[in-house]
Amino acid sequence: MRGTGYQTVTVFAPATVANVACGFDVLGFALAQPGDELVATRRAEPGVVITAITGDGGRLPREATRNTAGVAARALLDATGAREGVALDLHKGLPLSSGLGGSAASAVAAVVAVDAVLGLGAPTDVLLRCALAGEQLASGSTHPDNVAPALLGGFVLARSADPPDLVRLPVPEGLACAIVHPHLEVETAAARRLLGDTVPLQAAIHQWANLGALVAGLFQSDLALIGRSLEDVVAEPKRAGLVPGFAAMKQAALEAGALGCSLSGSGPSLFALCATAAVAARVAPAMAAALARAAGVACDTWVSPVGPEGTRVTRASDAACAT
Ligand code: HSE
Repeated sequence: MRGTGYQTVTVFAPATVANVACGFDVLGFALAQPGDELVATRRAEPGVVITAITGDGGRLPREATRNTAGVAARALLDATGAREGVALDLHKGLPLSSGLGGSAASAVAAVVAVDAVLGLGAPTDVLLRCALAGEQLASGSTHPDNVAPALLGGFVLARSADPPDLVRLPVPEGLACAIVHPHLEVETAAARRLLGDTVPLQAAIHQWANLGALVAGLFQSDLALIGRSLEDVVAEPKRAGLVPGFAAMKQAALEAGALGCSLSGSGPSLFALCATAAVAARVAPAMAAALARAAGVACDTWVSPVGPEGTRVTRASDAACAT
């Protein structure tokens, strides 16, 4: 439903962990932090302009038609027939090509901010489709496993991207995550090319058994079942070589008490799901130390609960105007 809008709106869009080991392209979860911040300002002129981007070292395109946030915002204006336009000011809190859903965060931040600032009241499926248009620009494919949890928060299973059919899954109380981001970059499109087009039947059987069991584990808060299910026999074996020290980090995570550990999205970041934040706080430095020992690579680490909230408005000017 359309309503009143604002002069400016600021949103926060969280990092997301896609695949979650066994759910390639269909399962992801949001973190509480880190994330991107985006400020949208309404303009009388139609269309999208990008006024500033910070935190990207000057590497992202400033031209709206070549920028993930710009494309997503434009798709929403077109989808809703908006007569006004927007100016976007993006602060990248997420490192580029890190496997933490940075392009999805920017795309979702843009659609949520534009929807709020212009009072468009677009339904979730429209926001998702428009954010996926931005994600497509960045990664060359329309996988929803970052965009969906960035939009909705928590664990989200995308049964279908088009038409959107998103299933929100429960988050067992206290579930937390250690993230290690080695100072490397992996392009999602290149990491996808490593996978080929076919999966051997036995691997597919193994993978969908794990995915079904992981979903059951989340519903039943069965941490042991979640841990047994966090196994990827499809993508991880082909991509692990992109991250020096991968095996050492994974072993360190499990020895320090993680339920399971795998690549976050297409890497190079790794995630380790843990029963509590206290365990995750032990796991993260153990992984970082293993990475340094095995590969001499520096990293950033984060410890975060699974974020129950998706992208949200954090500030809005009170200069509301009718649309
Ligand atoms: N599911 C996607 C992939 C996520 O693994 O290629 C990319 O962030």
